[in-house]
Amino acid sequence: NPVNLADYRAPAYQVEHVALDFELAPEATIVKARLQLRRNAPGPLKLDGRKLELLSVSLNGEPLGDNRYTLDEDSLTIQDVPDQAVLETSVRINPAANSELSGLYTSGSGLFTQCEPEGFRKVTFFPDRPDVMARYRVRMRADAAKFPILLSNGNKLSSGVENGIAHAEWEDPHPKPSYLFALVAADLVSLKDEFTTRSGRKVDLGIWVERGDEARCAHAMGALKRSMKWDEDIFGLEYDLDIFNIAAVSDFNAGAMENKGLNIFNTAYVLADANSATDMDFQNVERVIAHEYFHNWTGDRVTCRDWFQLSLKEGLTVFRDQEYMSDQFSAAVKRIADVRLLRATQFRDDAGPLAHPVRPASYLEINNFYTTTIYEKGAEVVRMYRTIIGREAFRRGMEAYIAKNDNAAATVEDFWAAMQSITDIDLKQFMLWYEQAGTPEITFDESWDDAAQTFTLTLRQRTAPTPGQPEKQPLLIPVAIGLLNQTGEEIHAETLLLRETEQSFTFKLPQKPGAVSLFRHFSAPVKLKGQSRARLAFLAAHDSDLFNRWDALQQYASAVLLDSVATHQIGQPFTLDEGLKDAIAATLRDATRDPAFAAEALILPMESLLADDMTVVDPDAIHLVREAARKALGQALSAEFHAVYEQFANAAPDDVSGPAMGARALRNAALSYLTAAEGPAFAAAQFTAAGNMTEKLAALTNLVDEPGPARESALHAFYTEWEHNRLVLDKWFSVQARSNASDTLTRVQALASHAAMDLRNPNRVRALIGAFTANPWKFHDKSGAGYKLLADFVLRLDETNPQIAARFVTALGLWRRFDTKRQGLMKAELERILAREQLSRNTYELASKALA
Ligand code: ARG
Ligand code: ZN
Repeated sequence: NPVNLADYRAPAYQVEHVALDFELAPEATIVKARLQLRRNAPGPLKLDGRKLELLSVSLNGEPLGDNRYTLDEDSLTIQDVPDQAVLETSVRINPAANSELSGLYTSGSGLFTQCEPEGFRKVTFFPDRPDVMARYRVRMRADAAKFPILLSNGNKLSSGVENGIAHAEWEDPHPKPSYLFALVAADLVSLKDEFTTRSGRKVDLGIWVERGDEARCAHAMGALKRSMKWDEDIFGLEYDLDIFNIAAVSDFNAGAMENKGLNIFNTAYVLADANSATDMDFQNVERVIAHEYFHNWTGDRVTCRDWFQLSLKEGLTVFRDQEYMSDQFSAAVKRIADVRLLRATQFRDDAGPLAHPVRPASYLEINNFYTTTIYEKGAEVVRMYRTIIGREAFRRGMEAYIAKNDNAAATVEDFWAAMQSITDIDLKQFMLWYEQAGTPEITFDESWDDAAQTFTLTLRQRTAPTPGQPEKQPLLIPVAIGLLNQTGEEIHAETLLLRETEQSFTFKLPQKPGAVSLFRHFSAPVKLKGQSRARLAFLAAHDSDLFNRWDALQQYASAVLLDSVATHQIGQPFTLDEGLKDAIAATLRDATRDPAFAAEALILPMESLLADDMTVVDPDAIHLVREAARKALGQALSAEFHAVYEQFANAAPDDVSGPAMGARALRNAALSYLTAAEGPAFAAAQFTAAGNMTEKLAALTNLVDEPGPARESALHAFYTEWEHNRLVLDKWFSVQARSNASDTLTRVQALASHAAMDLRNPNRVRALIGAFTANPWKFHDKSGAGYKLLADFVLRLDETNPQIAARFVTALGLWRRFDTKRQGLMKAELERILAREQLSRNTYELASKALA
């Protein structure tokens, strides 16, 4: 049965202090906990606990017989507990048998924790809910030969080795919820550095990795120091401990985790050098390091009252990492990349059976709610506050939010109240953004009154029903607009507040505007409909808002490609739209001005995005048309693409500055057109000459589309070179799963049982299966073989790692959008999954909702 927001009750007991003692060993770890309890609300003392072998329990020093407590699968309830009490428990756990990777588990030869959201209950009996905030003291002992490094949260009190046993004691002075607890016991080495905060605190920084990986930590360390400085400069937030450690682990369900003072990271977001990591990897490391660091205030110091408030920390922290990244690189290009992701993932989730609000009202399994809605749409919601009230007010609102909720567990209402407290704009209606699922659709009308010299813009909003929400209210939507004259110069710019279902705005102007640019910089997460092609072509060429210039070209390209899909479906040949050709030519001509922007603008709308705009998705036609367009553009603008490819060849291979990355991105965009038009010769040459992983992988991506000796020798060479680097080998898997080659399905089937396939390692599984589901043409193969392959994986993974298994179910959630044959095939796989006895709650929730 589901957990409901409406049923929230304060915890019966607060835990003021926790002392934990670990006797660490992979197969049998003993955990002793001493909890200092204080009554907080009526009710019995109920402690969460899963897969714990209870060895002893005592209250105020007195051992309890089993008549004093009840123990079941998930909890330990103790009767007659005084208002102040000390509870001591001792349990045995088996980290080596923990394949769910939540709680304490083994990875390689080390021991690591992941406690968010509900992993701590697999470590010890505890009220494992974020509104119970305690101070922790942690003692650890372990075999010094295998586990010389013992880390936990906060500051280190002592450590050493005695008789072959390593020991350490850590203390975290800041109260925190159990999900932020962390422990690492492993044979790791560290890259060390230090940072002095602006008020003079010297902080020891350490990044802990396996021996041999130290050389790949420099970028992460640089990013950490930049993040610490940025949060001081932009938000006035300083680090609050003397130590900040990051430990990297190969087997990890998520990207990284913000445990207080001891972040634990998926190696994929720590390790990077130009040889083995792409420019995208470098940026991901920078972004995730920043994200987890920023959680220190938005997440750790101010945490969430319950898991329904997850976006309170995640949406806000994503917003903060987005802002950080746009300060490091180009703001427009960052915005474009973020919106591309939002549309490709969040918009489609919001239009399907798994749609849920930024603050859900109910869940079966909270792990299923670490979604793009909570994270990315949540970040858009925070961004809209700033757009509505202004940057300066927003900064003061943030200060008020932190000051009021420091060391406490807050709700989205608390954030809202802080923003409302510093503005006269009425934000009441804004709360609907947290409560209502679905993407609003906006339509508009314009009129010009010549006599009055007034321009009237009428905006209409509508949000389609989503599961459980048949009726929608109008939202408060910030609409950043620019009115342009006939030559594209801006004559007026303003942010309108749309509050009604339909609302008109009138402007007195010296002349009739030539065009209106709406939702500049994507001022709200909505779908704007009804822009004419002439308008889009004009904006793509002239808008002074770079985001909208990019977007206009994307919308234009979508419209003409979807036309081509329709003509293809009635058997007509493909013809290249002249307007699209002109726009791409103009992009190439202007490329020198901003190469990174040009690279974005050259990417044709993704197949999945085109699919979202079709009533009945035709994956084959979409793929065929998009490829035909790429080839036709490559041929028609061959000289221009060649010129760009030559002109931007000069970035040094190990230069990961913005301009160097921009140049490579542009060159690789050109390479994709050139390969489509002229075959694999350029890609083969680039593969051989490549000076870094960005160039190498781009070349390989182009080479794997065509079966034959060029492909085989490139894949073989790549494998041989990188066989022993797990992160690079992941790329070898995913590049094949993303391939357009005729034999992709059989290759993915073969790779599924490749010796290097490792079901325990989420990165490897995502590299193959995640990449495959992101290849719509192959995944939606009309035989249904793609669906079957996915469902087979879900069922296998569900037995060991339900969190990861459940994620993949969402790929089948869009069945309603396809033809009846595919619908039947997808539903059959969902039914096959649901028929499994002992299916995890994770997979059950998503599969049953997908089918409903
Ligand atoms: N709080 C972590 C992060 O943003 C993610 C934890 C993911 N946990 C999960 N169960 N999926 O940065
Ligand atoms: Zn986060």
